[in-house]
Amino acid sequence: MELHIEELRSSDLKEKRLDKLSFGVDFTDRMFVMEYDKGKGWHSARITKFQNFSLSPATMAFHYGQAAFEGLKAYPRTNAKAALFRPERNLRRMNVSADRLCMPPIDEEFVLDCLKTLVRLESDWIPRGEGQSLYIRPTYVGVDPMIKVHASSKYLFFIILSPVGAYFERGFSAARILVEDEFSRAAKGGTGFTKACGNYGASLKAGEKAAKSGYDQVLWLDACDHRYVEEVGSMNIFFVIDGKLVTPALHGSILPGITRDSTITLARDLGYEVEERMVPIDEVLEGIESGRVQEVFGTGTACVISPVGVLGFKGRDYVVGDGGVGPITRRLYEELTSIQYGKAEDRFGWVHIIE
Ligand code: COI
Repeated sequence: MELHIEELRSSDLKEKRLDKLSFGVDFTDRMFVMEYDKGKGWHSARITKFQNFSLSPATMAFHYGQAAFEGLKAYPRTNAKAALFRPERNLRRMNVSADRLCMPPIDEEFVLDCLKTLVRLESDWIPRGEGQSLYIRPTYVGVDPMIKVHASSKYLFFIILSPVGAYFERGFSAARILVEDEFSRAAKGGTGFTKACGNYGASLKAGEKAAKSGYDQVLWLDACDHRYVEEVGSMNIFFVIDGKLVTPALHGSILPGITRDSTITLARDLGYEVEERMVPIDEVLEGIESGRVQEVFGTGTACVISPVGVLGFKGRDYVVGDGGVGPITRRLYEELTSIQYGKAEDRFGWVHIIE
């Protein structure tokens, strides 16, 4: 398949305001789109101006949520146009999500090439301030204009780009997280291990409940007994217990986060012991009280490594350490972002430079 690149008129170009950025509000001038039709396969790959789609009100994804997304980032560089962080992992995971949702696979290599071309064309949009980056949102939707419950025979895959600042408006400071013991995010056998859009839609109610009580996000427990820790709204979770990093093992209902994987690799390389296992919420809360749980932090593309200062559970706040940012959390944040922003050697081969 050939990639067609549309020329933009000067009237298509927006004013770039990159000084003060919130998360996911502004979008660049261009986007990547390709289409799929059963019998024909993927076709019409193009980079066009950022524009609305015209879709039937009967579009499959609107009714039955046959849709998945990814999130990755491009970072500024001084000697090149940009750097992507482990993009091949996101495209591989997109195909895992696609498979679970009965959607045909994308050609990961081709899409990666198109993504690099898009980021190269839009590299002036990459903000250069502290903690800023260009957030990349590949999205995959079933677009059959038919409301019979079935796997679509037509699909749209697109990538949009958004210059972003920190995911949490308070920046790199400790979050307050509410442990959710009523609602569930995902059960084994469901779509919890994918980035199905519906996973996020189904999480909003609990998120609003948490926000009303003064918390930033929700910590999900297992759907069966509400006993074991799974993940937070937009991130995987880690605990520092007696100096060792502990994170819930991936067993079907937890998202296999790329930042989670990078954090584990980095931590082991720095000499920390890392354990992936079932983590009972009782162990965490007792550990916070006794001081054995020294730090808690989340990991995700959008939020990077995000310290957690308080876990709220059944009307009580459990304050982790002094409620601030712990030393291991800070160190891992600095080590990871140094690789992402090109201040440290890319010793794991994670970075793709875009010349
Ligand atoms: C990401 O970290 O990229 C995510 O996908 C979380 C998102 C819902 C903001």
